[in-house]
Amino acid sequence: MTTRKKAPSLGDWDRQYLWHPFTQMQEWEREEPIIIERGKGPYLIDTEGRAYLDGTSSIWVNVHGHRHPVLDRALDQQRNRIAHSTLLGLSNPPAIRLARELIGVAPKGLTRVFYSDDGSTAVEVALKMAVQYWQQRRPKAGPKNRFLHLNLAYHGDTIGAVSVGNIDLFHARFRPLLFATESADPPYCYRCPLSLTYPSCRLACLEPIEQILRERGPELAGFVIEPLIQAAAGMITQPAGYLKRVRELCTKYEVLLIADEVATGFGRTGQMFACEREGVTPDLMALSKGLTGGYLPLAATLTTEDIYRAFLGKYEEFKTFFHGHSDTGNPLGCAVALAKLEIFRTDRTLAKLKPKIRSLSRLLKPLRRLPHVGEIRQQGFMVGIELVRDRGTREAYPLEARIGQQVAQEARKRGLLLRPLGHIMVLMPPLSVDLRTLTRMVDILSRSIAAVTRHD
Ligand SMILES: Cc1ncc(COP(=O)(O)O)c(C=O)c1O
Repeated sequence: MTTRKKAPSLGDWDRQYLWHPFTQMQEWEREEPIIIERGKGPYLIDTEGRAYLDGTSSIWVNVHGHRHPVLDRALDQQRNRIAHSTLLGLSNPPAIRLARELIGVAPKGLTRVFYSDDGSTAVEVALKMAVQYWQQRRPKAGPKNRFLHLNLAYHGDTIGAVSVGNIDLFHARFRPLLFATESADPPYCYRCPLSLTYPSCRLACLEPIEQILRERGPELAGFVIEPLIQAAAGMITQPAGYLKRVRELCTKYEVLLIADEVATGFGRTGQMFACEREGVTPDLMALSKGLTGGYLPLAATLTTEDIYRAFLGKYEEFKTFFHGHSDTGNPLGCAVALAKLEIFRTDRTLAKLKPKIRSLSRLLKPLRRLPHVGEIRQQGFMVGIELVRDRGTREAYPLEARIGQQVAQEARKRGLLLRPLGHIMVLMPPLSVDLRTLTRMVDILSRSIAAVTRHD
């Protein structure tokens, strides 16, 4: 009797051919992967037809829900014209229109848009622009080419972005490749490095920052910061007034403020851009993720007229910004991004978001009663729930306990997909989610935390 060999499945091919990012593949190879085939609104649907709630907006990218008809249409219409041409020596209508629209919604004072491909490259562009800006603005002054950033910062995975980052688990191995930077502690109030309490601390954590700016200002090209919330650091929220003060200090010590709004941009914190909350205009602003809401990779670095003008001159002065990517200003991505901004207007996304943010706070409140919830941090629609082994001492779970991963596994069984940051559970629903679905997401998260930590 002959036995028929089972045909390989997509899961088999995944394990045989794919290498997944931020993933221990030895473990991955032992598991059956969830293979997402379709999406609708806040749902991801796998090849088995199972629907999951997209609890992290597909890694903080999705804005208006999956398969939005306006975005689908914009993509189709542009595809019928052209998929790609270059911005090197040419222009294209969606790239022009999108630049104009972005400047229209950006903090006042930002006037120019430089396109790239993803969050990391948007940050790289900002770093390179800052260094070249000072060379050309003050050619006779000494080198002004170092950067200040916060500890635990994450600005992407390319070498420049990693240099201004500081998450050991991700970055330590690459230290030999990185350039030297200055760094300061973030306002991680739950674990205050100065052992102070907000607001009586009066933002004392800004003093070491001012000291660095005072002493090293002449060498510093820029201060790179995620405004309002350091996302990958564990959703570390900044107290009110922090960002505004950072802006004032950067101005005082003549250091460019580089706002990395890759995660916070496009409504995620409740306004179009996080900087708006504190009335701040950065000198450079990096955008990606929500720019197309995941339809296509696209990024932009926005800057001021002052910076732009420092790059003007005769060709032979070589003040040109010699940087660009093959897909820069890709018309398909720009057409979708334009349509996405139109949805913000026509659907009044930001106005509708306000009560949803309040509902989310209300829904999260009962989770404080769970004995292993140390702190719940929320900035608009960005939530981090820090799980601790001991709430009294705030003792953290060790990485090996994989507490976050365990909770995510439980949530998955209940129909919610999450991607924790170690022991910090992240919830970042698409802005379009309705109250019923939001309630379900929080309920599943709560029950999953309770199920995993019950016996600790
Ligand atoms: C604040 C911030 N900056 C930059 C990046 C890098 O973006 P990308 O993964 O698109 O390169 C991320 C990604 O999570 C981010 O959160």
